[in-house]
Amino acid sequence: MALKAATKFVLSENIADSVFDAVIVVSHSWKAVEKHAGLKAILPVLENYSKINSSIDKCTVSFIPTDAVSSNRLFYSSTGTVNTDFDDVRRYQKAAQNAVKAAVSAGVKFPLLITIPYERFPRAELIAAVGALHSAYTPYHIRSEDNQTLKLEGLGIYPIADKSPRFLELIQGIERSFIVSRDIGDGDPQRMAPPKVAEYVQELFKGSSVKVTVDSDQEKIKKEYPLLAAVNRSANDVPEHQARIIWLEYSNEEESKNSQKEFETLMLVGKGVTLDTGGR
Ligand SMILES: *[C@@H]1O[C@H](CO)[C@@H](O)[C@H](O)[C@H]1NC(C)=O
Ligand SMILES: *[C@@H]1O[C@H](CO)[C@@H](O)[C@H](O)[C@H]1NC(C)=O
Ligand SMILES: *[C@@H]1O[C@H](CO)[C@@H](O)[C@H](O)[C@H]1NC(C)=O
Ligand SMILES: *[C@@H]1O[C@H](CO)[C@@H](O)[C@H](O)[C@H]1NC(C)=O
Repeated sequence: MALKAATKFVLSENIADSVFDAVIVVSHSWKAVEKHAGLKAILPVLENYSKINSSIDKCTVSFIPTDAVSSNRLFYSSTGTVNTDFDDVRRYQKAAQNAVKAAVSAGVKFPLLITIPYERFPRAELIAAVGALHSAYTPYHIRSEDNQTLKLEGLGIYPIADKSPRFLELIQGIERSFIVSRDIGDGDPQRMAPPKVAEYVQELFKGSSVKVTVDSDQEKIKKEYPLLAAVNRSANDVPEHQARIIWLEYSNEEESKNSQKEFETLMLVGKGVTLDTGGR
């Protein structure tokens, strides 16, 4: 099933923990590491490295072998500039993404990600984690084979600004939603043709509070969704490629806390086009 094989997350403030087979530091400046007592051991390592390679803070990933962390593998990823008009928090996303990509290429399976805060970007830690997960995504067709391993088994997050378990839950939630959208959007045209997408979505929400309804009646689609049907024409001849309408309904069963006030109804309208899978 889709998410059985998702990355495991842990919060840890111990850079020496042998669970981690690499430590990744994302920062706008190596000197900013100084402000964090728990990172004392790596400060001299970065300082020494900065003396022999002046590129350390120039938007690059530096791989620094060192005894200061138990795995001997320290990756320092520079965000590049963060203080000009056109810099935004995505600097952190990109830096973490590049670092995890480099770490995966070195065989790393369970790194600890440390994002040094910068006051202009209060969400930097979250965004860096999202970037890290981008590089950790293992395509669906690879996960589907039991003997294939994930790019990363786990990701440790060293929390600085937000140490609450909710932070981890948020990252986990974002990862899951990304996996689902990447699986469906990037999956190959056979594994993710509309009927297979419908099966995937049904399996995904099985036993949850989201009700899934799938319309596969092509006559009904023709009558009620004429624009979709018009596109379906190009896929019509192959039953495995015929259109599906997937309804997701979430209704929480909670009582309203304030009897004077009705629940708010929230509607999200969007579309997921998988009609021309294989063509494009
Ligand atoms: C940094 O360099 C100094 C001077 O060469 C050396 O004494 C020290 O052990 C180095 N520290 C680390 C952590 O590599
Ligand atoms: C200096 O560091 C940068 C970033 O890690 C790296 O790309 C470059 O190859 C390094 N230079 C040398 C001579 O190792
Ligand atoms: C994984 O298993 C499949 C079939 O079970 C096999 O064809 C494939 O070679 C295996 N891949 C690896 C990397 O062992
Ligand atoms: C979609 O394609 C199938 C297969 O050719 C066809 O039977 C069906 O009528 C088409 N549906 C619509 C709404 O055009």
